[in-house]
Amino acid sequence: EYKNPLGVDIDLETGVIPGAKKLVRRLGDLKGYFVDEKAYEELLKENPVVYEVYAIEQEEKDGDLNFATTVLYPGKVGKEFFFTKGHYHSKADRAEIYYGIKGKGGMLLQTPEGKAEWIEMRPGTVVYVPPYWAHRTVNTGDEPFIFLAIYPADAGHDYGSIKEKGFSKLVIEENGEVRVVDNPKWKE
Ligand code: 6PG
Ligand code: NI
Repeated sequence: EYKNPLGVDIDLETGVIPGAKKLVRRLGDLKGYFVDEKAYEELLKENPVVYEVYAIEQEEKDGDLNFATTVLYPGKVGKEFFFTKGHYHSKADRAEIYYGIKGKGGMLLQTPEGKAEWIEMRPGTVVYVPPYWAHRTVNTGDEPFIFLAIYPADAGHDYGSIKEKGFSKLVIEENGEVRVVDNPKWKE
C-alpha cells in the first residue's frame, strides 16, 4: 500500500514541527561529554535544557526518509559552547543533509580515524554529511541555533564511540572569539 504524502510548516522562529515527536536533552543527559568537569558540575545545579529535537520518523526501512528540527540553546560549559551529543549512524554508510534555519553555529564532523572538519552554519546553509562521518552541531551564538536534518529512515544513531572518546576538536570561546582547537583529552 502507498503511504500518504505529508506537508508540514516548520515554525521558523521556534523550530517546532507540528505533530512531531519531541525529545528534550538536558545538561544531565550529557555527563562526560564536556572537557571542563568542574564547570559541568556547577552548571548541573541548574540542569538547563541544552537542546530539543522535533522528529517526524518513519519505520526503519531502506529508501524512506526521516526529518527533524533541532533547537540548540546558547550556553557554555567552561569555554566550550553547548553542543549536541554527536553520533555516527548505526548504518554507518548513511548520509544526511542539514539546513540552517535560525541563529549561528556550525557542525563538527569526524571520520573513525579522527580526522575532523568544522563547517560554519547560518540561516540558509546546507551541510552535506557524507557516509561514515560522525556529526555534532555547536551553538556559537547567543540565541537558539535551529536547523533541519533529513536522513535515511534506517540510519539509526550510534552514540557509543563519541560518548567514550569525544571529537578530536573542541569549539570554544577565547578572548570573545570562536576557536576550533585540539581536544586535550582526545585519544585514538
Ligand atoms: C539525526 C540527525 C539529527 C540529530 C539531532 C540531535 O541523525 O537524527 O543527525 O536529528 O539527531 O540534531 O543530535 P544527537 O542525535 O547527536 O543528540
Ligand atoms: Ni545524524
